[in-house]
Amino acid sequence: MVIKEKIEKRKQICCIGAGYVGGPTMAVIALNCPDYDITVVDINKKRIKSWNGDIEKLPIYEPGLSEIVHKTRNKNLFFSNQVDQAIKKAEIIFMAVNTPTKQEGEGKGMATDLSFVEDCAKRIAMNSESNKIIVEKSTAPLGTAMRISEILQTNKMPINFEVISNPEFLAEGTAINDLQYPDRVLIGGEETKNGNRAVEKIADIYRNWVSDDKIITTNLWSSELSKLASNAFLAQRISSINSLSVLCDVTGANIKQVSRAIGADSRIGDKFLEASVGFGGSCFKKDILNLVYLCKFYGLDEVSEYWHQVVKINLYQKNRFVSRIIENLDNNIRNKKITILGWAFKKNTNDTRESAAIDVSTRLLKKGAKITVYDPMVSKESIIYDIKENFKDQMTSKFLSKIKFSDNILSAAKDSDCIAILTEWDEFKSIDWSKVSKNTSSLFIADGRNILDSEQIKNSVDKYISVGNSKF
Ligand SMILES: NC(=O)c1ccc[n+]([C@@H]2O[C@H](COP(=O)([O-])OP(=O)(O)OC[C@H]3O[C@@H](n4cnc5c(N)ncnc54)[C@H](O)[C@@H]3O)[C@@H](O)[C@H]2O)c1
Repeated sequence: MVIKEKIEKRKQICCIGAGYVGGPTMAVIALNCPDYDITVVDINKKRIKSWNGDIEKLPIYEPGLSEIVHKTRNKNLFFSNQVDQAIKKAEIIFMAVNTPTKQEGEGKGMATDLSFVEDCAKRIAMNSESNKIIVEKSTAPLGTAMRISEILQTNKMPINFEVISNPEFLAEGTAINDLQYPDRVLIGGEETKNGNRAVEKIADIYRNWVSDDKIITTNLWSSELSKLASNAFLAQRISSINSLSVLCDVTGANIKQVSRAIGADSRIGDKFLEASVGFGGSCFKKDILNLVYLCKFYGLDEVSEYWHQVVKINLYQKNRFVSRIIENLDNNIRNKKITILGWAFKKNTNDTRESAAIDVSTRLLKKGAKITVYDPMVSKESIIYDIKENFKDQMTSKFLSKIKFSDNILSAAKDSDCIAILTEWDEFKSIDWSKVSKNTSSLFIADGRNILDSEQIKNSVDKYISVGNSKF
């Protein structure tokens, strides 16, 4: 009896969405909050099976994640497909579902597709029999919390729903560290007695490991806008430095030297000032396009255009990188072999969404090149999926026949006309290029991440281009 009461007293959290945010975030909450039972649910059966399977093969790769899942899984962290059941018993429900860009209808290509969020809200409304706090963890446009509240009102039982915005700021590749030691935790709620109480309950979860001075509380709108604005600022820095890299390429300036000089100013700071082939990832582009759309919606055309330029420069940077490869191969890449080193959108993740490698490879294939891909973490299946998605039936099979895969750098690079580095994996920084050059007639490296030192490699490499430094 006593044991039963003890079990019933345990606080129940449910998280809908077992992806890059839901999985790691809930694992870290479980680790730090032994008094809570956390059930992460997803409609994707394969994903849940893999969360419950071999600890070395979790569906998401993040340094430190498997160790935490190993410690907490089936103790106070559970993964399940029983969405309705988990909703029923939870007091707090996090929504960490995807919020992609709309592919059709009003706002197509710009606005956020809220259908996954709305489906969750409907499911919560249908299955709730007690008071609940719904936490909007997904990144969503301003007003989404209000929209969730409206849907929840379709539940006619005498129960109370409080919707809270608690956007996630983790960066893939460093997710566990970001979650354990966040710069801040943002919690937005309605400025009412119930709203404040709900904000406090969510803050209490984080207080288990985050100090109070890092917990920022705001109203709902400010919280939703702050997440979009943070991503817009980060991406804007990348596009700003990339725009200057173009000027460096046509003059004698060196972008690394320029970045260092700019970043030494404490008002500016040195983070996110590395020039590259362009940013990727599932968030920056879609969140900025969402911001652009919102500004347009409110008739703020100048503001909208200001932010749109961040995405446009990113595309320009990728195209420019491809053009420079082609120019350096005598303007003809038909049937030439180009080795792609790195498919993930950044190091230390297996996520490939919006990766620069996809756009660059697609363009190279369209110009007639053959490509061979090596990435230490991304599977062949993921790469094929990305290519198919990008070509969308435009003779996909013809292009797929021109892609090969390799499980090591040396064989990937053999007989290559150009080696394009598209992810900054650490192992690419220490490649022995003298070994690689023995298997190529002329070694040409296009360093899209500026990870190599041109001085160090110049004796083994015939041609080297990077981003924002014309000198070799
Ligand atoms: N990935 C990041 O680095 C990051 C960082 C901060 C914020 N975000 C935001 O967090 C949200 C989730 O991103 P993610 O990268 O984890 O996405 P994801 O695609 O990896 O995961 C989302 C999961 O939600 C599941 N899902 C969708 N609808 C569902 C439903 N009705 N019921 C149950 N499960 C459902 C999907 O099957 C999927 O597994 C997005 O809004 C994103 O913008 C992402």
